[in-house]
Amino acid sequence: MFPVPFLLLLLPLLLGPGSAAAAPAVTARTLAPCFSADLRPAVGSLVSAVGCSVLLTAPVQRGSGTVLWEYRVLLQQGDDGSFYRLRTQEETTAWFHLHVLEPLSPPRIEGSSLVKAGGNTKLVCHVLDGKADAFWWKKNGEPLPESDRIQLVRNTTLYILRVSISDSGYYTCAVRNAVSHNETSFLLKVHHSANVVLPVVLACVIIGMLAGVFVWWQRKEDSCDSCW
Ligand SMILES: *[C@@H]1O[C@H](CO)[C@@H](O)[C@H](O)[C@H]1NC(C)=O
Ligand SMILES: *[C@@H]1O[C@H](CO)[C@@H](O)[C@H](O)[C@H]1NC(C)=O
Repeated sequence: MFPVPFLLLLLPLLLGPGSAAAAPAVTARTLAPCFSADLRPAVGSLVSAVGCSVLLTAPVQRGSGTVLWEYRVLLQQGDDGSFYRLRTQEETTAWFHLHVLEPLSPPRIEGSSLVKAGGNTKLVCHVLDGKADAFWWKKNGEPLPESDRIQLVRNTTLYILRVSISDSGYYTCAVRNAVSHNETSFLLKVHHSANVVLPVVLACVIIGMLAGVFVWWQRKEDSCDSCW
């Protein structure tokens, strides 16, 4: 990529003196550390995150007198855009648009964690703060492909139809916007619909214990017979 200061120097040369479009441009970049926001400098507009620092730079002015930063806010619901420009006696830069987004916290997954084999289940992924541009799912860390049994609705809701034991595992909902990404995992356990294992094991244990007591009692009787 072209280094931006070099590009800025080049711009007036390309446009030539007296060109109408020669308003110097403001550049800006987000300073590290800042979630996963793009830290490269941008000309004209920049998307950054709440809580991060942004450095605005205007081309060096050779003129004298007052140098002013001007600031303009977009008063529109759902848009936190603001505009900046630098003004001197000689010239004024173009407006620079700064857009600030909320970084995404781990999403919340709603659903039941214990499911009967053979039934259907769904997991719903919600973003609590901010707005996600993309949602996607993983199972045990691997991308989860859609199939006739695994279906997604707007990527936020995951349906698993005719659940089988092999569907048990960790389901992760991952979310991303221009400045951050985050994810949450959910453990899904599938059990057999006819739950016969536990009663059978319990019955075996109880019968074994009774048999043991009976044998011990018999031995005690025998040893007492020989006492006499
Ligand atoms: C996920 O969100 C938590 C809490 O808001 C934050 O501390 C963490 O850094 C985020 N993870 C990523 C990868 O940005
Ligand atoms: C939906 O998920 C797929 C992969 O599962 C991903 O490639 C795609 O970008 C996602 N789209 C949105 C809008 O979240």
